[in-house]
Amino acid sequence: MESNRLKQIKEEALKQIEASNALDKLNEIRINYLGKKGELTSLLKGMKDIKAEERPKFGQMVNEARQAIEDMLEESKKKLMQVAREEQLKLEVIDVTLPAKKNNVGHRHPNMITLEEVERIFIGMGYEVVEGPEVEYAYYNFEALNIPENHPARDEQDTFYIDDKILLRTQTSPVQVRMMEKKKLPIRILAPGRVYRSDEVDATHSPCFHQIEGLVIDKNITFADLKGTLQEFAKELFGPQTKVKFRPHHFPFTEPSAEVDVTCFKCGGKGCRMCKGSGWIEILGCGMVHPRVLEMSGIDPEEYSGFAFGVGLERITLLKYEIDDMRLLYENDVRFLKQF
Ligand code: DAH
Repeated sequence: MESNRLKQIKEEALKQIEASNALDKLNEIRINYLGKKGELTSLLKGMKDIKAEERPKFGQMVNEARQAIEDMLEESKKKLMQVAREEQLKLEVIDVTLPAKKNNVGHRHPNMITLEEVERIFIGMGYEVVEGPEVEYAYYNFEALNIPENHPARDEQDTFYIDDKILLRTQTSPVQVRMMEKKKLPIRILAPGRVYRSDEVDATHSPCFHQIEGLVIDKNITFADLKGTLQEFAKELFGPQTKVKFRPHHFPFTEPSAEVDVTCFKCGGKGCRMCKGSGWIEILGCGMVHPRVLEMSGIDPEEYSGFAFGVGLERITLLKYEIDDMRLLYENDVRFLKQF
């Protein structure tokens, strides 16, 4: 009687295991049959009703049934896990033929390419690259450069004032003064940086642009040193055929002063659209440092002399890359920037 029941339980359990298709279902079956309150366990509890001589045999049968159910549970579990794993692998397939995501690497701005080129040239001549503040005292931007208050030269370089003593520098020339005040002589520096003016934006103007200032102070520095230096610079930057021309000019902080033109690197000096037919292109301002400027910075003009120059970085970049509108340099359109 009890052994029939046992057989029945075993068959039922095996059938259920066979039919189950999920791991938690298997667990349920385990609890239902083998758990503390499961079918097999309660059958064992009924042992006391069985004749004593039949008990060992019956016990053995129960154990066998238990083992059979456990084995099948284990086997099913393995199968289900295998199926699950295969399904997961199918889902996680990597399609190596898909085009990869492009990694967009940044690009140096044409202004910076030019600046690094200019720095390289002057470092090669023994210059040190230095920087000064963009928010500057009016004293350094004007007075110390021999541009007194109410001097008409101030109108040409109107700027943004923080208060009546502090402004956004209109030129990198104040760095000359700061270096003359603090550096040991001789001085040979290049000072690039941003400058500001209250100009409307157009193809050749911007309220914020860059200059590169140069300054040399030593004993026996003459205009010949200035000429030789800038000739060398022009050749390095625009090519070995390049010639320079010094046109007399006026800057308050240099005497004498000059503007420098280079032979047009497009037509070689014959005259073309680039140089507006003249064969020459203006690239910078320069001169011998004014004795008053030396004096104001604490340098004896009887003992020392020097030259200075100031280059508009954007101007050189536009020339070098034949770009006809300065605004393109500030719009940061990658399609434009990528070309350089
Ligand atoms: N600071 C001048 C300007 O912004 C440029 C300049 C001219 C700088 C002559 C110099 C120089 O050092 O000697 O117009």
